[in-house]
Amino acid sequence: MKELIIDLKNQILQEIKDVKEKDKIEDIKVKYLGKKGKFTSILRNMSSVSKEERPKIGELINISKNEIEEKINEKIEIFNKIELEERIKRETIDVTINKKIVNIGHRHPLNQVKEELENFFVSMGFSVVDGPEIETVENNFNKLNSPLDHPSREMSDTFYIDKDLLLRTHTSPVQIRTMMSTKPPIKMVSAGRTFRFDEVDDTHSPMFHQIEGLVVDENINMSNLIDTLNTFIKEFFGKDMKTRYRPHYFPFTEPSAEVDVSCFNCKGKGCNVCNGTGWSMELLGCGMVHPNVLEACGIDSKKYSGFAFGMGIDRITMVKHKINNIRLLYDNDKRFLEQF
Ligand code: PHE
Repeated sequence: MKELIIDLKNQILQEIKDVKEKDKIEDIKVKYLGKKGKFTSILRNMSSVSKEERPKIGELINISKNEIEEKINEKIEIFNKIELEERIKRETIDVTINKKIVNIGHRHPLNQVKEELENFFVSMGFSVVDGPEIETVENNFNKLNSPLDHPSREMSDTFYIDKDLLLRTHTSPVQIRTMMSTKPPIKMVSAGRTFRFDEVDDTHSPMFHQIEGLVVDENINMSNLIDTLNTFIKEFFGKDMKTRYRPHYFPFTEPSAEVDVSCFNCKGKGCNVCNGTGWSMELLGCGMVHPNVLEACGIDSKKYSGFAFGMGIDRITMVKHKINNIRLLYDNDKRFLEQF
């Protein structure tokens, strides 16, 4: 009897060991340990065992049964583990996989330069102010001390909407708006689109971009202006850049100047880009805010003074990236834009 039990147990253990599928292990459980299972039926043959031996055989049967159950559970666990590993393998995403990279585009070079300029002036303590593209004649000309007979007022230069409204010809009306709404000290820049009735050529477009700065406080003088602009030119374009201030006329500043900067190509040595002069001409306009402008905005010109400057963002983008035709900035040809 003892041998019979041990033999059967070993046979079952071997069968468990050999099982290759999870379902089969359940079958084995039923086949041997179930109510009608082979192992259970041995118990029924206990009548042939002598009374003395019965407890020992009973114990052996129980131990064997436990051992078989343990092995079955172990095997089930192994199957579960394999299943889990396969699932993890199946569901894992390889983030390093080589895929075609989707081209998501980027900012237009004009917007990149606009943002760089704004960020620079913010780092110098200026705030950034926005203004509308449709302006009043009052803000665009009158309050800027622009004489009624100034050529820029003429229909040929300005896009008029009606007699009082126009597309702003420069960003200077944002200065007016700021001075009307804010008490000094004022330190602001404003960048955006501007419009003039110009024929399109390599350097002109009826829509272009300016950035404009204004500082108003007590005791603001010309050396503050020159120091601010020289710092800007050197930090923004390079330490070796020189500046040259030439007297000029703007209705809203007095005195006024135009600023030339060392040629971006030859850095001042003289080349064919600068016609041998070593200078990039008329990069900025600037001056001390005219007292009439301060007064028109309700600022006491005896107490306060200010300086202002303005420049073309298109022009700066063109010299920065060595672009020789302004049309390229507005054609929106992807082959061109993708270079920046
Ligand atoms: N608004 C002037 C222009 O469009 C530029 C400028 C701004 C000049 C501020 C002086 C001061 O040409």
